Amino acid sequence: MTKDRGGFSSKLGVILATAGSAVGLGNIWRFPYITGENGGGAFILLYILIVCFFGIPVAMTEFTIGKTAKANAVQSFKILAPGSKWYIVGVFGVLTAIVILGYYAVVTGWTLEYLFRSAMGDLQGKSVEEYSTLFTDFTNNIERPIIWLCVVVLCSFLVIANGIKNGIEKASKILMPTLFVLLIVLAIRALMLDGSSEGMHFLFYPDFSKLTLNSLLAALGQSFFSMSVGMGCLITYASYFGDDVDIFKTAYSVAIVDTLVAILSAIIIFAAVFSFGMEPGAGPGLVFMTLPNIFQQMSGGIFWAILFYALLFIASITSIISLFEVVIAYICETWEIGRRKSAFITSALVLFLGVLSAFSFNILSDFKISELTFFDLSDFITAKVIMPLGGLAMTFFVGWRMNAEDVKREVTCRGKYTVAFYKIYMFLIRFVAPIGIVAIFVSSLFLGD
Ligand code: TRP
Repeated sequence: MTKDRGGFSSKLGVILATAGSAVGLGNIWRFPYITGENGGGAFILLYILIVCFFGIPVAMTEFTIGKTAKANAVQSFKILAPGSKWYIVGVFGVLTAIVILGYYAVVTGWTLEYLFRSAMGDLQGKSVEEYSTLFTDFTNNIERPIIWLCVVVLCSFLVIANGIKNGIEKASKILMPTLFVLLIVLAIRALMLDGSSEGMHFLFYPDFSKLTLNSLLAALGQSFFSMSVGMGCLITYASYFGDDVDIFKTAYSVAIVDTLVAILSAIIIFAAVFSFGMEPGAGPGLVFMTLPNIFQQMSGGIFWAILFYALLFIASITSIISLFEVVIAYICETWEIGRRKSAFITSALVLFLGVLSAFSFNILSDFKISELTFFDLSDFITAKVIMPLGGLAMTFFVGWRMNAEDVKREVTCRGKYTVAFYKIYMFLIRFVAPIGIVAIFVSSLFLGD
């Protein structure tokens, strides 16, 4: 089975593709408003600490599993712990990937609608209410979100059907540098706006009095989602890493890129929001209702709007591709069917769930399970239930169950790092990370956000 799986051809490809998975809606849309809600600067410091002590070590557990087993998320557990039930962790991972894809692809479709409308000059000259109506009219529409969903799935299909080296790696090598350029250009533009410094004060002045226990948990949850940790996505990517890939270096490089993108996105958004005297409001509204209104007031607004929605689309599509790969690798290797066919089956599943998610805003808006629409439920079950449990399972597996020699070899990169480093790492994943994850899980389920 490991014969013709293919793999990444270079270490740069590994980092760009993994960073492509990590950088997504979580960075550009979710991070800014969570930072806003949790007091700005102090939260950013807290977030960086959490990434160092939780995000990076847990990402490394997934890398260790995938790189040692060289198989999909389910098969990896079967290889490393034969005859046990551990593979169920992988099964949940594959199911989670399909569910996340269902709503993530819908939101990515929204970015295409806004990209298209900006290019058409359709987002100009409206009042604040008109921007909200525009968004609700669009999501209430039955066909348009579905058309864009199909476009998103088709784009992913075209990349992923070409395999790892010629599909994922090639796309990442083009899309990620483009993303960085767009981000830097937009950040410079945003900082040149009059009054942007107020946004920077809000973002970077550390007001520790605003940090609560919930901020800690918000930081933990955000770091997992943002780094694509907890459901086998990184296991799958690591199964295509070459033997010489240094997993510690890969994990911290991806963490640095991911965190920088999140902070730059927050700079862009808060510079603009404060400079135009808007509310740093939360959720989809910030990107799809507040920002269009800001763009129309800026000189050259159409151009900046196009750049911004292109950025959002690129960031999302590389994350979608990584989620697709979790499912495709599993289908390919379990049922021994070709990559194209597996990609086709996965696309069909994603379209089906995507349609249900898109319909949550119109014909299915009254169909609720414990007060949540299908769209909200998909987010809740994956981000708040399965991913924390998945992360916990990974730390247990690598900390206590996996062959210690295998773990040591990967963590120290065959002796490049010291035994002391390995011991600190083991302490983090055996004790510190599991306790932290249990804390997020219990609090987000029982104490509410
Ligand atoms: N990390 C991506 C983001 O920030 C989303 C994502 C991609 C993801 N793959 C994942 C989240 C796997 C959890 C698990 O938008």
